[in-house]
Amino acid sequence: MNQEIQRRRTFAIIAHPDAGKTSLTEKLLLFGGQIQVAGAVKSNKIKKTATSDWMDIEKQRGISVTTSVMEFDYKDYKINILDTPGHQDFAEDTYRTLTAVDSVIIVVDGAKGVETQTRKLMEVCRMRNTPVIIFVNKMDREAKDPFDLLDELEEELSIHVRPLTWPIESGVRFKGVYNIYEQNLNLFQPSKQVVTEKVVVDINTEELDKQIGAQLAEKLRGELELIDGVYPEFDKEDYLKGELAPVFFGSALNNFGVQELLDCFVEVAPSPRPVQAEEREVEPDEPKFTGFIFKITANIDPNHRSCIAFCKICSGKFTRNAPYLHVRHGKTMRFSSPTQFMAQRKTTVDEAWAGDIIGLPDNGSFKIGDTLTEGEMLHFRGLPSFSPEMFKYIENADPMKQKQLAKGVDQLMDEGVAQLFINQFNGRKIIGTVGQLQFEVIQYRLENEYSAKCRWEPLSLYKACWIESDDQEELEAFKKRKYQYMAKDREGRDVFLADSGYVLQMAQMDFKHIKFHFTSEF
Ligand code: G4P
Repeated sequence: MNQEIQRRRTFAIIAHPDAGKTSLTEKLLLFGGQIQVAGAVKSNKIKKTATSDWMDIEKQRGISVTTSVMEFDYKDYKINILDTPGHQDFAEDTYRTLTAVDSVIIVVDGAKGVETQTRKLMEVCRMRNTPVIIFVNKMDREAKDPFDLLDELEEELSIHVRPLTWPIESGVRFKGVYNIYEQNLNLFQPSKQVVTEKVVVDINTEELDKQIGAQLAEKLRGELELIDGVYPEFDKEDYLKGELAPVFFGSALNNFGVQELLDCFVEVAPSPRPVQAEEREVEPDEPKFTGFIFKITANIDPNHRSCIAFCKICSGKFTRNAPYLHVRHGKTMRFSSPTQFMAQRKTTVDEAWAGDIIGLPDNGSFKIGDTLTEGEMLHFRGLPSFSPEMFKYIENADPMKQKQLAKGVDQLMDEGVAQLFINQFNGRKIIGTVGQLQFEVIQYRLENEYSAKCRWEPLSLYKACWIESDDQEELEAFKKRKYQYMAKDREGRDVFLADSGYVLQMAQMDFKHIKFHFTSEF
């Protein structure tokens, strides 16, 4: 068992849209032999924003089922890539996916540097001390100065960096990358082939001058010297603690610099790590199976309202048809057709190990965060909800379908599509999302899957924050003062709906013993 678990690498690629996540994923799959030609992995992003048509959303959902997890073997390793939605309106989905990975590769566009979405996702990684590797992409286009980029990464992402490859120019002058780690030179030949030719070059010999010209050779030597002077040696322990990120340069589209990344990744990235449950820490090599649901994807076939619940195996071995305890329901379940995912294909699996992701067909028995065990009462933690950024009242638009609407809203919230709050003052239901697109998805799915109609009513709020205090008196006083702005989340916790940043600031100043939280996990 130990050997099976040690060889697993479960990670996600995260990036601001358009930085090259899809291209990089595809190249990694090429190395794994999972796909034979470039262009086989579809981008799952919705190109247009709020006005995208329903076909796009349907396509997105369809594709995201098959590409939610992609697994392949490389050398002696079994690699699981978890896909994250490209569109920022589904960021919440990405945050949750990050709870199921052991490490992360961040793709940054060499010309644009650190962008908003990268920054946000990095915050989530930092909350969990997830080890991070950075790939600076699109070096075949005019890019920022690599030293400036490193400074920017350190500053914007609050992490130490250490380059392990180094670019020789960029754009039309791009010559290739020097692999600091293995001390060889990889010359750039724009092509989409898997194998790129590597030349082993001692940088202190004339061979380097011959390969890239005397001027660039001199510059490279200087830069490498500077790197050694400025950046301490790569320390794997610091990387594993999430404090240091190795940096690679390349071009995903041209499959250049990707193998350097992959080779280093399999070597240094962690195998499945212990997972914290409320009761105790669970070690991956414990003999008994445990796992949790981190994502639920609805089936796009409207005739079957079945979903796939994605389970991250935290410990032991999962076996098909074995009895497992659904802890929240307290009932035993058997899974006769668990699936695993290989690029475009879905196959039934008989067994899977800690670190793996399996898809469990589901018709409404799971919700995000549910735990499965061999009988132990465990509750895995770490599926935070983030304070939403947009809010609307949801109203029933068809009086005959009240029940359907309630059920639909309930199940969509279980799936984690958005967050529901009940205003304690007027009893109205409020849906909170990260972006406009989620409202459209909810309305569409309520109609198509639950035959229910909803109507949105505007609600201008700045933030919803979870509140708590050791000082019960002050807490009660606060709730009384703000009674119009108090709500409960689905777990019955107190949530303060601040209608402006100023109001929130004042509240924080006036009520010093109350803690205002912007994630549900505290
Ligand atoms: P994403 O999943 O992070 O959103 O990015 P994706 O890989 O889809 O890449 C976004 C765009 O950037 C694509 O162009 C892609 O071809 C291009 N790209 C990715 N890597 C590189 C690279 O290394 N060099 C260069 N020059 N371009 C790169 P597009 O025009 O949006 O899409 P398409 O028409 O090429 O599919």
